[in-house]
Amino acid sequence: MTAHIQVTTAERITTIRFDRPDKKNAITLEMYAALTAALEAAAGDAAVRAVVIAGSRECFTSGNDLGDFLRAAQSGEGTINAPVAFLRAIATFEKPVVAAVAGVAIGIGTTLLLHCDVVYAAPSARFKVPFVDLGLVPEAGSSILLPALVGARRAAQLLLLNEQLDAPTALAWGLINGVSDDADAAALSAARKLAASAPASLRTTKALTRRTTREAVLEAMRVEGDAFAERLRGPEAMEALQAFMARRPADFSRF
Ligand code: COA
Repeated sequence: MTAHIQVTTAERITTIRFDRPDKKNAITLEMYAALTAALEAAAGDAAVRAVVIAGSRECFTSGNDLGDFLRAAQSGEGTINAPVAFLRAIATFEKPVVAAVAGVAIGIGTTLLLHCDVVYAAPSARFKVPFVDLGLVPEAGSSILLPALVGARRAAQLLLLNEQLDAPTALAWGLINGVSDDADAAALSAARKLAASAPASLRTTKALTRRTTREAVLEAMRVEGDAFAERLRGPEAMEALQAFMARRPADFSRF
């Protein structure tokens, strides 16, 4: 476990909260392991009926820790197992998951939402999937889930142009369910309703709504994972990651 992921269970709801404020809740390998463990514990506990994923009032998460990406790139490995395990865990999680987003939701901060059932955002929420800006490619099945959710044109704005969405636009595009001044309270209210519902009926309904896409999403995650590892070993990612660390813009002109 890590101090940077808080896990609490009350009222049949497990709340998993990012808590690394000094780094905008960037997710380290240790934090991924804690997220996966929390989901596995919630899956195995019959008393848990719903899960809430949240950050703080200022920040959801700035995505994968870029220091971890840089280390993986420098080691020449490219493959990082901890995020993959977490993404498989959330993609195959059978109980309902509600997310509350305030502030930035970058990279996996946005793509993990594609595996949540209901998402509320504060007016401060900002969504961005800057994989290309980092010399990388989409993950979490987002290469198929985003176009399916928002349409191919808008997916191009997000995945190719790396545009940032504000909360009202994310709502208009169907990325989230609602904007609330208190996204945590909105998420908790939805989770309470889910926790009081017939659990087997709820799980089966969730499984039915994902029946035709489940294998395609897992396959997309495998294919994306190979492409991601290849990109992370490449010079474009190295330039982008070193640029982030040096607080300068990346320069892709020589590629
Ligand atoms: N990985 C590692 N560290 C991160 C991080 C990340 N994804 N996001 C932010 N941080 C760190 C910064 O390096 C900084 O650390 P420092 O104080 O030791 O220098 C600290 O968090 C605060 O970030 P800062 O950039 O100063 O805050 P900001 O308000 O100006 O900007 C963000 C916040 C999130 C917009 C900006 O940090 C950012 O773009 N981060 C990278 C997001 C990203 O590309 N994620 C990966 C997606 S795949």
